[in-house]
Amino acid sequence: MNREKWGSKLGVIFAVAGSAIGLGNFLRFPAQAVKNGGGVFMIPYFISLFLLGIPLMWIEWTIGRFGGGFGHGTAPGIFHSLWKKNRFIKYFGVIGIFGPIAIFIYYIYIESWLLAYMVFPLRSDFSLISTKEEMISFLQAYQGVVKNQYFSSILPAYFFFLITFAINLLIVFFGIKKGIEKVCKIAMPTLFVFAIILVFRVMSLRNLSNPDWSPLNGLGFLWNPDFSLLKDAKVWLSAAGQIFFTLSVGIGVILTYASYLSKDDDVLLSGLTSASANEFAEVILGGSIVIPAAFVFFGPIGIKEIANQGTFNLGFVTMPLILKSIPFGKIFEILWFLLLFLAGLTSSISLAQPAIAFLEDEFNLSKRKSVFIFGIICFLLSHLSILFLSKGVVDELDFWGGTFSLVVFATVETILFGWVFGMEKAWEEMHSGSDIKLPSFYKFIIKYITPLFLICILIFWIIQDAIPILLLRNIPKENLPYVLMTRIILILLFIVLCILVKISWDKKGEKIES
Ligand code: ALA
Repeated sequence: MNREKWGSKLGVIFAVAGSAIGLGNFLRFPAQAVKNGGGVFMIPYFISLFLLGIPLMWIEWTIGRFGGGFGHGTAPGIFHSLWKKNRFIKYFGVIGIFGPIAIFIYYIYIESWLLAYMVFPLRSDFSLISTKEEMISFLQAYQGVVKNQYFSSILPAYFFFLITFAINLLIVFFGIKKGIEKVCKIAMPTLFVFAIILVFRVMSLRNLSNPDWSPLNGLGFLWNPDFSLLKDAKVWLSAAGQIFFTLSVGIGVILTYASYLSKDDDVLLSGLTSASANEFAEVILGGSIVIPAAFVFFGPIGIKEIANQGTFNLGFVTMPLILKSIPFGKIFEILWFLLLFLAGLTSSISLAQPAIAFLEDEFNLSKRKSVFIFGIICFLLSHLSILFLSKGVVDELDFWGGTFSLVVFATVETILFGWVFGMEKAWEEMHSGSDIKLPSFYKFIIKYITPLFLICILIFWIIQDAIPILLLRNIPKENLPYVLMTRIILILLFIVLCILVKISWDKKGEKIES
């Protein structure tokens, strides 16, 4: 079967960078840094980047291109190409389709709020909001959690969800080159320009009544290290988790994007370039917007409280309040939400692609049919997030799709690559068509350090976080039925995907096994 191909090298770099640069860069990262010791967070963060993030990026680019050569764009087929003799490895690959769907069905809903918030600055009652409490009640009414003067039903949120959903499907329907690549080539440079404008604007903010609350001191607040926290396993887990989330590694999406490369295309420099673009957007741009701005307005005490209230509040409550109060505030508010929407959109289309590629590659379905089936299933599943947002459903989806799956998937693919496929062959495959040569110590890192690091994370994380979550220990009683229902639906989804893999392999039979 003739698979699609990227139109240009820059196009695929923009697409992978687009997948990586998302809400994680502008909201999750600053909140994590403040919560985990400021500057000291950057020590485990950069160690994780060099020992985990970048090696995984290279592994996923390489195995994606390798599997694509056999006509497979998703992990079941790619894993099978790497270990032909093993009949079970393809089922581990199912995580690489399951994870993106589990994330997609809540990510897309949050993305739709961004679209709505681009329009709200034009509403007079939104413009009049001046306190945190009012802003929170606006957001909650929009989400349908409460009813008040701002919204009396969830219908407006539903409307924006439908538009966002349709935009996503349309882009993936147009395909790799004409859809995803085209959008990312426009969205990425635009996003960088908007982010740079916002950084300059934030850096010129002043608080006349508290001159010490300056953006520069805000940066100091973010970067001043608290070394005592370095002993805390939680800080290390959070840093590794942020690297996974922000680079989009361990999810399954990068392998799929890389499967549309040609055999001679470079993977090492391209992978490094997209990771570097993501780090610039995260550490330099993402670190210089929300926290310094909030510092100017709320000072050193207020800001800690804000960071602890979570990522959403930073984006949807704190930032609009700040931007509203400056000259031409409406324009900056719209710019902020447009920036986040573009970041979210280029990530969500990458989450949609694995399931679509799976249907196209393994069942020979047309693009139209694949997008249609994916659309119907995800449309239905998204209602879990829309209708039960306040019942802990999004946390449950994020746990399975955005945390558990990532660590397990990354561990499997790393061992498969360095040990089963074999490091010598793997090294050769990585360098085939490559524009750079890696220093040979990376051979050692990929074979020993990255898997060891992953196994340590897995063990620490199981002890610290996973067991209470698996046993549903910290779930409020009233949320229990919703969380359980979500878990059962996810288990069923996983089983269905395994069955589909079996059916497809049975159908292709001997051809694949040999
Ligand atoms: N990598 C994406 C983000 O940072 C998912 O939001």
